[in-house]
Amino acid sequence: MGIKVRSVGIIGVGHVGAHCAYSLAVQGIVDELILVDINKEKLTSERQDLVDSVAHFPHRVTIKTGEYKDLANCDIVVISAGGITQDQNRLSELKQSINVVNSFVEEVVSSGFNGIFINITNPCDIITGHVYKLSGFDSHRVIGTGTCLDSARLREVIARETGVDHKSIIGYTMGEHGDSQMIPWSHISINGKPILELAQHDSRFALDHEAVLQEVVNAGWTTFKGKGATEYGIASALARLVHCIYHDEKQVIPVSTLLSGQYGQTDIYTSVPAIIGKDGVEEIIELNLTEEEMKVFNQSCDVLRKHIETV
Ligand code: 2OP
Repeated sequence: MGIKVRSVGIIGVGHVGAHCAYSLAVQGIVDELILVDINKEKLTSERQDLVDSVAHFPHRVTIKTGEYKDLANCDIVVISAGGITQDQNRLSELKQSINVVNSFVEEVVSSGFNGIFINITNPCDIITGHVYKLSGFDSHRVIGTGTCLDSARLREVIARETGVDHKSIIGYTMGEHGDSQMIPWSHISINGKPILELAQHDSRFALDHEAVLQEVVNAGWTTFKGKGATEYGIASALARLVHCIYHDEKQVIPVSTLLSGQYGQTDIYTSVPAIIGKDGVEEIIELNLTEEEMKVFNQSCDVLRKHIETV
């Protein structure tokens, strides 16, 4: 038996899926990509364009197209299929996205796929929860990119405002990958030194919390407005997660995951920091939130619940 190739399937090769494919390929995170899309013409074109780039990589990547059944042996299947929001609200994509994932999740599972689902399709938290139910997989193997992307946006804003590189900033946004997400400021730190403490004697760190949150929440729409899609940011977040899984990194990354009592919440997918390794979400990190932060986090979960009820 030969060595197993690192094989990732991507369902939906629109702007997001195609950029995810390119990120995984160009960074050498995978050996093989299997692209699936109901639009066969687009599928063929995306594959051709990706294949044309491979000869310039320092590593080989095989790019295939296929059907759902061809994803059986993938380690990870990325879900990036769905509609595009027209009204700056990811929640309005809910019904369409539910129908889209209903059309393939069970087929992928019955093909024999037994790896990890990473869902991007919006509204990310609710759709990831739906994929979890449809798949019958253990929740640690059904992950939503959630606020992994928003947290990158947050660290960039803090880096710009403070002049400290984002790699030295520990910070997350939590809750819905959407308008109700929140920033647990009591846990934002410059390599361990709380930013709230630093702010007491250095005005650089005294950020306008509401303005930072608004900039982070609006970042997706700032991108979307002029080009009709967001792609590099989400593709980079996805690539980071896949890298973490393949290398069993155990890095703490905020992702949308099933809460079963953590943060006082049960039976809901939403973003919290978690340890990501070869088994997917290996452990949820339960931060000691302040009363006010807990309130805002709960409100975000309420927003999600209200929309789950409409499904
Ligand atoms: C993003 O935040 C729209 O969810 C997409 O980039």
